[in-house]
Amino acid sequence: MFTATMAEICLSLSAPSVEALGELALAHLDEVSLMELRIDALEEISREKLGALVKLLKGRNISIIWTVRRREEEGAFGGSEEERLLALQLGDELGADFIDIELRSSLVSHRGDFKAKVIFSFHDFNGCPDDLEEIVDAMGEADVAKVAVQTLGCKEVARVLALYARPSDQPLVAIAMGEFGSVSRLLPAKLGMPWTYAAPGEGSATAPGQYTLEQLQSLYAFESIDAQTRCFAVIGNPVGHSLSPEIHNAHYRNHELNACYAKIRVDEMDDLYAIADALGLEGVSVTVPHKESLVKHTVPGSYLEKVGAANTLIRGAHGWSVENTDIEAAISAIVEQLSDPQRKVRVLLLGAGGVSRALGHGMVDRGWSVTVTNRTQEKAEALAGELGGEWLHWDDRNAHGFDVVINGTSLGMTPKEDSTPMVFEGGHLGLIAFDTVYTPERTLFLDSAEAAGAKTVTGREMFYRQAALQHAHWFGGAPPWESMENLLRSLA
Ligand code: ATR
Repeated sequence: MFTATMAEICLSLSAPSVEALGELALAHLDEVSLMELRIDALEEISREKLGALVKLLKGRNISIIWTVRRREEEGAFGGSEEERLLALQLGDELGADFIDIELRSSLVSHRGDFKAKVIFSFHDFNGCPDDLEEIVDAMGEADVAKVAVQTLGCKEVARVLALYARPSDQPLVAIAMGEFGSVSRLLPAKLGMPWTYAAPGEGSATAPGQYTLEQLQSLYAFESIDAQTRCFAVIGNPVGHSLSPEIHNAHYRNHELNACYAKIRVDEMDDLYAIADALGLEGVSVTVPHKESLVKHTVPGSYLEKVGAANTLIRGAHGWSVENTDIEAAISAIVEQLSDPQRKVRVLLLGAGGVSRALGHGMVDRGWSVTVTNRTQEKAEALAGELGGEWLHWDDRNAHGFDVVINGTSLGMTPKEDSTPMVFEGGHLGLIAFDTVYTPERTLFLDSAEAAGAKTVTGREMFYRQAALQHAHWFGGAPPWESMENLLRSLA
């Protein structure tokens, strides 16, 4: 495998005119040292203007990849292969450092004609071909091999990442395009990839799943990712709006930890492990819908199997272990509000799904008394039976006599912000209302509780606490409560 100790960002620039291309380049001159000029997007290929742009970039020590992709390759070039060859030769004459030639074009036979280094590239925007390895093998004569294929699931992403394990000294850029594969663009120095392509801004990506320069630099601190960087990720479906990468990465940056926290869409939990191995993931935050299926990796009869849900994977010397940091996070947030933490706490749980089940077990284990109420009564009865607690008819959920009321349903969560599992009636002074929903931070449930005189604990309290606990599992030491709390607050 080729080893890249540090990898670069290649800013991929595409515009209809050389002037517009130049403006994009000028805006980022000090930020990157490699740019791809997508010549195919130009309405007119002007030798003079392109010559001036290349001169400007070279004067700033910026290396250039010169790319002319045809329409059938999802590029914009409509000319003949002869015209494309002329456009590529122009780049070579002007001083481009790399000329990108599509493997499937007849132009590969001109490989020896160029002064510049040559990239052989293969793109498939419709899927991931069966013969990926053979495709890369066919690129042996190029200075750099590039494969970019659309991936529709984690298994395919793993196949793309497996290309790095081939015994070869040839630099390889292997990209799993699409939402599932974004992570293949994030850790090039770990994978042995010389650069990753980035877009100058939102909406200007030249391929699906490409990060923006801003995301790579600010969110993921790309410049500090090297072969030793420790890697973590949140997985789930959907995972797009998770706040976990923001707070974990910011914590790493603030505390100078050589680590990176990615976001990976995973539909099938079992498919995660191949990706995790290829990337060397050391820890994973697991979110919806995999929290329940994660417990099948726990020891039969274990506490977590009883609880029925987990949210944390930790890679140890003997494989993965599983934890649930949600429970301790929720309980510690509630305990902080209790006026008498020594007294037996009486809890009313709204909902009988996975969240309620896990919290219910955690609280019963702590000696609290738990009463369950749920829209579907049989489920309330079943969970109450499992917990050794009581159940209450859903219509009676406004009852008094509890210290804590917990929303364990998804009601109130974006995009259902205008729903709530209950409207508090009468005075509820001294009650603690806790919402497991954390987007938005203030829910109708909490507003209604506050109006009735109750104290409130938001889902954000639980969120930053579970993150701090996860961090402690992965890095050792005490959970960084304050740092995670401040970081989450700074995002609001
Ligand atoms: P999770 O695993 O995240 O807890 P779940 O298992 O789907 O999710 O559970 C969702 C909970 O929200 C259930 O208790 C559900 O009540 P039902 O068992 O009656 O389905 C509750 N819930 C969802 N929508 C609801 C609604 N509109 N009104 C009342 N409860 C609702």
